[in-house]
Amino acid sequence: MEELKLVELLLTAEIYNRFDELTEDDIPKPIRKLLYNRGGINRPIVIKQDVATKYVGRRVEDIIRSIPFVDYNTFTKQIKLTSFEIAVKWFAQRGIELIRRNPVLAYYYQNYDSLNVSYEEAKKFNRPKYSDREWLRSVLAEMERNPETAEMLGLVRVYSPEDIRVDLSDVALTDDQMEEIKKLEIALEEREFLKSIGLTDIGKLLFIGPPGTGKTTTARALSKKFGLPLVEVKLSMITSQYLGETSKNIEKVFEIARRLSPCILFIDEFDYVAKTRTSDEHAAVKRAVNTLLKSIDEINMVEDGVILIAATNHPSLLDPAVWRRFDKIVEFPEPSEKLRKRIFELALAKVPGKYDIDELVSLTEGFTGAEIKLVVRDAVLRALLDGRKEITQRDLIEAIKDVKNRIDLKYSY
Ligand SMILES: Nc1ncnc2c1ncn2[C@@H]1O[C@H](COP(=O)(O)OP(=O)(O)OP(=O)(O)O)[C@@H](O)[C@H]1O
Ligand SMILES: [Mg+2]
Repeated sequence: MEELKLVELLLTAEIYNRFDELTEDDIPKPIRKLLYNRGGINRPIVIKQDVATKYVGRRVEDIIRSIPFVDYNTFTKQIKLTSFEIAVKWFAQRGIELIRRNPVLAYYYQNYDSLNVSYEEAKKFNRPKYSDREWLRSVLAEMERNPETAEMLGLVRVYSPEDIRVDLSDVALTDDQMEEIKKLEIALEEREFLKSIGLTDIGKLLFIGPPGTGKTTTARALSKKFGLPLVEVKLSMITSQYLGETSKNIEKVFEIARRLSPCILFIDEFDYVAKTRTSDEHAAVKRAVNTLLKSIDEINMVEDGVILIAATNHPSLLDPAVWRRFDKIVEFPEPSEKLRKRIFELALAKVPGKYDIDELVSLTEGFTGAEIKLVVRDAVLRALLDGRKEITQRDLIEAIKDVKNRIDLKYSY
């Protein structure tokens, strides 16, 4: 088995080096992640002892002796095939399962004897490189090296889809929200087609709704679902009292998104800058709004691979010119009964105990998703405090009362 993995690694490198049409996306993730260097993978790929040991999971020096067509140079630490043809034949007899899942190998072997493997099929097992945590780290590290881009990175938070914990299935969505997500997904898949027919104004979404209704959570879950890096920025964090600084920061944020594309650019607290331009405002504020509008105009998913999601709790503050720039307004309303039921079900899914969700739903009119989660958390703590690991309806109802007080308090100020 270890021999097989080592030969897979060496063949993958060798075939990749021979065929220019193969891309980094074709290299299987477990191999690819060991090879990133300064934001990319060097061509030709050279396999050294350390990488091979990591991939195989055992010191390769110990394995190499049993494979006659592999050579190890103890001085350069490089591992090589001494005969490509023999290696190909050897692997064809033993590694068919690995070939089916490795696009680089499948590309070569699909014309080999009657192995019956397909490059297209193998590609389905392999997500593109931009979904790799290691790829993103390598690109960011490269950007950190350059003072100019390093400064840009200070304005945003960047997440790899692999590091996002929340799944879209953990979010209770309305039918409308679900439909918009499906449309976005299909548009993403059909980017080339949309480009060819000149439909580029797609993929700009404005999430509106009260605090705690799932806007941020949904943006993150989308990054995970689509396997796209997430560039997150709060507009309040990049506004500056210095003249012109805010505009520059906005431009930099969009520039980062472009460099990390395909990705999702999530702009939170969107109203912070995009407020209506009133006449008594500072020229610098107006300039910032204009920069924002221009930046939104100049980026799109079809051509640049950037999905733009902006979120706000105060849609009424937004400049009408801002509204027009989004092809979709996605509402995150105070959850309906149906949605509250779903949120309770999700929040209680792993919580042991006996309870009646329908009653809880009827007692929580006006609660947001965040408040329902708070109810469950509070009920669990109550039970624990009481020495129980099973929660009761009573715990939940008491928790609801507590959270309700909290909500009333919020509105009384
Ligand atoms: N519809 C929902 N389904 C599941 N969980 C939800 C839902 N709405 C809110 N939550 C939960 O509430 C918490 C807060 O949600 P989130 O931060 O996404 O809200 P938000 O709309 O971005 O709020 P804000 O406007 O304050 O930024 C999260 O833990 C989230 O899981
Ligand atoms: Mg939020």
